[in-house]
Amino acid sequence: MRLSRFFLPVLKENPSEAQIVSHRLMLRAGMIRQEAAGIYAWLPLGFRVLKKIEQIVREEMDRAGAVELLMPTLQLADLWRESGRYDDYGQEMLRIRDRHEREMLYGPTNEEMITEIVRASVRSYKDLPKILYHIQWKFRDEQRPRFGVMRGREFLMKDAYGFDVDEAGAVRSYNKMFVAYLNLFDRMGLKAVPMRADTGPIGGDLSHEFIILAETGESAVFCHKDLVDMPAPGIDLDWDGDLQPLVDARTRLYAATEEMHDQKRFEAEAPEDKRLSARGIEVGHIFFFGEKYSKAMKANVAGPDGVERPIQMGSYGVGVSRLLGAIIEASHDDAGIIWPDSVAPFDVGIINMRPGDAAVDAVCAEAYSALKAAGKDPLLDDTAERAGAKFATMDLIGLPWQLVVGPKGVADGVVELKRRATGERRTLPMTEALAAIAG
Ligand SMILES: Nc1ncnc2c1ncn2[C@@H]1O[C@H](COP(=O)(O)OP(=O)(O)O)[C@@H](O)[C@H]1O
Ligand SMILES: [Mg+2]
Repeated sequence: MRLSRFFLPVLKENPSEAQIVSHRLMLRAGMIRQEAAGIYAWLPLGFRVLKKIEQIVREEMDRAGAVELLMPTLQLADLWRESGRYDDYGQEMLRIRDRHEREMLYGPTNEEMITEIVRASVRSYKDLPKILYHIQWKFRDEQRPRFGVMRGREFLMKDAYGFDVDEAGAVRSYNKMFVAYLNLFDRMGLKAVPMRADTGPIGGDLSHEFIILAETGESAVFCHKDLVDMPAPGIDLDWDGDLQPLVDARTRLYAATEEMHDQKRFEAEAPEDKRLSARGIEVGHIFFFGEKYSKAMKANVAGPDGVERPIQMGSYGVGVSRLLGAIIEASHDDAGIIWPDSVAPFDVGIINMRPGDAAVDAVCAEAYSALKAAGKDPLLDDTAERAGAKFATMDLIGLPWQLVVGPKGVADGVVELKRRATGERRTLPMTEALAAIAG
């Protein structure tokens, strides 16, 4: 992509409405634009990152055996009357009437709809287990939308739903999602800590929130320090095997969100120097709720004994759009964003220091094609901006590499390569720079 053709409306000034760094940087880097409170347009740079994150989530869901579908954003109120949630959900639900005066709603979540879909065809335990997911926009009329995409009203979520014939099966599904979550956050360069979360009236201990530690996080969290640096399980494992030991290793140590926190237990289970009280961002939430919806909505299957029973269900959410904010909170400096390679909107920025100079233009074009051929996605700054402004924009948008091509270097047969994360700069021949970027 040439910057002159791209759409990158960067802001020079700090927007006054942004209270946290990720919101400020997303606005300044021209990634999003607020269209209404908590409702954002995804501008090209932001949209690219959103798609990258979505794709990582998709790949790890698929790897764990989940199956993707797509449910609509609009739902019938009657479906929610079956579960009893139409009245319970309250003001957060956006209620709509169509031209026939039919009551509808913009889905804040999809338990009812997926239960209806599964109930329509699944009859026997032989049809299970299944984990179905989609990546779809949600609307929740949050009382206090804030912090940009962190707490929006319209936001993108990956929501998966597990269906099993018995509780033991549901635990296996839960474990698959637990492990897949650790891997997918790891692929985005995030250290997510699973913490015991509230199960509400359902009870039990099968609910975890995946938390990124950050001062600006909305939740107070308490955990054993060793959990923070525990490596992800990794993708190379037998997904149909026993994942319980991997889950146990990460749930043995104390970790709880504020609602679940028990100071006495914390002190008993973690020595003082290992106790971490911090703030965190909830980027994912997994939850086993058994028969809650299947019973109310009569989604039954016949077990091996021929007896019909309600399906055992769980739901598994990832805040896809919130993750952009979370990643930036975890990875930035005074100059701007520092994207982890896996989610960067472009892999490298080529800075043409003198557009119009035939030799410099030619070297930039060569670098561009070579990077493309190597499967990399370059952004070529071919604009007539001052050098200082070009460097500032590149730092702000946080591409992992910057390749600076100027007349003096071209004459000497070298370019300057900068790694955004470390600030390290090297002057070297183009072939070596390209090799470094190609990794
Ligand atoms: N208003 C919001 N804006 C952005 N992301 C959200 C919002 N609400 C929830 N999410 C994301 O979706 C995930 C699943 O949502 P869920 O757990 O159902 O929501 P809640 O925690 O509000 O009950 C959360 O872990 C969070 O990452
Ligand atoms: Mg939650």
